[in-house]
Amino acid sequence: MPEEGWLSRPNETPSPLIVLDDVVKVYETGEVPFTALKHVHLHVGAGEFVGLIGKSGSGKTTLINMITGIDRPTSGDVIVGGTNLGGLSENELAAWRGRTIGVVFQFFQLLPTLTVIENVMLPMDFCNMYAPLERPERAMHLLEQIEMADQAHKLPSALSGGQQQRVAIVRALCMRPRIMLLDEPTSSLDPEMVGEVLEVMTTLGRAGMTMICVTHEMGFARRVADRIVMMDEGEVVEVAPPGAFFDAGRGNPRVRAFLDRIMRV
Ligand SMILES: Nc1ncnc2c1ncn2[C@@H]1O[C@H](COP(=O)(O)OP(=O)(O)OP(=O)(O)O)[C@@H](O)[C@H]1O
Ligand SMILES: [Mg+2]
Repeated sequence: MPEEGWLSRPNETPSPLIVLDDVVKVYETGEVPFTALKHVHLHVGAGEFVGLIGKSGSGKTTLINMITGIDRPTSGDVIVGGTNLGGLSENELAAWRGRTIGVVFQFFQLLPTLTVIENVMLPMDFCNMYAPLERPERAMHLLEQIEMADQAHKLPSALSGGQQQRVAIVRALCMRPRIMLLDEPTSSLDPEMVGEVLEVMTTLGRAGMTMICVTHEMGFARRVADRIVMMDEGEVVEVAPPGAFFDAGRGNPRVRAFLDRIMRV
């Protein structure tokens, strides 16, 4: 790790850093209301790496959106680093998110007309963080850490999917977030690109970043996560360290059904 490391902020908040207390989310958009989260309780400690798994439609992205404050629960509380997100206005929430959370999505969402380094600088420009002259240096330093400094002045379209996703990860890191939330960061990558992205996330996790990663990479989750959280039909049905989850978890019929299904594909 370079001196500055991936992390620069001590974990000054006592655990748990993330608390979901009886969170219910009902989508009212369809013809009939749909309950996507059903009384979810979850605590995530500072420095913990949570692998969030479950079949399509089980509520993983909805859960992530509650923690970023991109969406709000219908009832229940989301408390992150002691801040109850329900008490923040939209503007306060956006500012809080920029300071606190790095988010990475399945599709890299790099701006196609900006170069790699401009993309990495974007959040710093947007939030007016760091002196303007410091920003390129900081962005380059981050790119060096993923061995992408030599690609800094290319457009995203000139990079492989794996490279683009690594850039999206360091872009999310540039504001020194205390928490990284990643929603299927490798799902849209060609298989040969997956490893390099998992490696960056593994390094981050080992450096003590608090992370929740939605993933279908079971080997990765087993190797790197401190705990596995499994969702099914809007409920958290199992929370356990990987060893216990993948072995003893099979005692839970919903876990067994999920694992049997993914092992078959
Ligand atoms: N904006 C919305 N309006 C109505 N229903 C929604 C909305 N967003 C999600 N849903 C529904 O809520 C449920 C949970 O969706 P969510 O996206 O959280 O699932 P997921 O576990 O992330 O699935 P995937 O693995 O496919 O990404 C799904 O049945 C989905 O159709
Ligand atoms: Mg999803």
